Amino acid sequence: MAVSLKGRHLVCLHDFTAEEILQILDRADDLKRRYREGKQEKLLAGKTLAMIFQKPSLRTRVSFEAGMHRFGGHAIYLGPTDIQLGQREATGDIARNLSRYADAIMARTFAHKDIVGLAENASVPVINGLSDLLHPCQILADLQTVREKKGAFRGRKMAFLGDGNNVAHSLLYGCAKLGMHIALAVPKGYEPDQDVLSQARGDAQQTGAELVVTHDLDEALKGACAVYTDVWASMGQEEEKKIRQQAMQPYQLNQKALSRAEPDAVVLHCLPAHRGEEITDEVIDGPQSVVFDQAENRLHAQMAVLTQVI
Ligand code: CP
Ligand code: NVA
Repeated sequence: MAVSLKGRHLVCLHDFTAEEILQILDRADDLKRRYREGKQEKLLAGKTLAMIFQKPSLRTRVSFEAGMHRFGGHAIYLGPTDIQLGQREATGDIARNLSRYADAIMARTFAHKDIVGLAENASVPVINGLSDLLHPCQILADLQTVREKKGAFRGRKMAFLGDGNNVAHSLLYGCAKLGMHIALAVPKGYEPDQDVLSQARGDAQQTGAELVVTHDLDEALKGACAVYTDVWASMGQEEEKKIRQQAMQPYQLNQKALSRAEPDAVVLHCLPAHRGEEITDEVIDGPQSVVFDQAENRLHAQMAVLTQVI
C-alpha cells in the first residue's frame, strides 16, 4: 500500500522515512519510463508552482518549470528582485499569500531558516530547492541515479570529496536513510555541520549505514562504487574562493583519485562544475561519469515529489 504524501513539505530528507523516500524514487523511475514510452500524462493539470529564487539556477529552475509544463501545470519564476524575501515583506506573509494562488511553493534561499519559515506559514507544500544547509531535491535525483547504475543502496559505499556543504549534508541524510555507506573526505575546517552529522548518524542506526568523515582521501575512496564531488565555494561563498581552492586542491576528483575507488565506480556531480578545480575534464567527460543522467533525473525525481504532495 502506497503511503500518502499529500500536503507534505520537502524541507529535509530526515523528515521522511526510508519507505517514503523509496516510494518517491519508485515513482520517479516510473515517470521516467512512461515519458520515454511517449506517454503524455497531465498529472498536474491546472496546478501552479510558485518558484522563489534568491540565488542563480539552471537545473532547478528548468527542471521544475519544464516538469510542470510536461504534466499540464504551470510554474511562476520569482527572482531575487521580485519578492525580496524578508526585506520587502515578511517570510510568513509571503507564504500566506502564495498559498492563496499556488498549489505548491519551491524556494531556493541563502538562510535555511527562510525555507523553514515558508513551510511553517504556508498551507500548501513547500519544497526546498537548495538552502545554505541542504539540497534534498538534488539528493533524490542522485539516489535515483545510483540505483539505476548500481541496482541497490544497502551495503554499498559512496565517497564525497571536497567541502562538507549543503549537498554533502543532504547526502548524509539520504544515505543514512537508505543504508548506503558514505565517506566524506574533506580538508580540516570544512567538515560537515555537527548537528546534521549526528542526526544522520541517528538515522543510520536503523539501516547500518556507516557515515565517515575523514581527511584521508584513500580512506574515503576505498571500496566506493560512487564518487561525488561539488564546487569548493558554494553560492554566497565567492569571496572565500581563493582560500578554499588552496585547502581543497588535494581533494580534487582527478583520474588518479578515481582509480582508487572501485574500477566501475560512477562519477557524480550535482553541477554546475568548475572544471579544472574540483573535477578534471578527463573525469567529468570520461566513461565513468553519469553527471548528465543525474541532471536529467532532477526532473523525474521532482515531479515524483510534486505529483504526490500536491
Ligand atoms: N544542481 C543544481 O541545483 O543546479 P542549479 O544550481 O543550476 O539549479
Ligand atoms: N553547493 C553548491 C550546489 C549548487 C547546486 C552551492 O550551494 O552553490
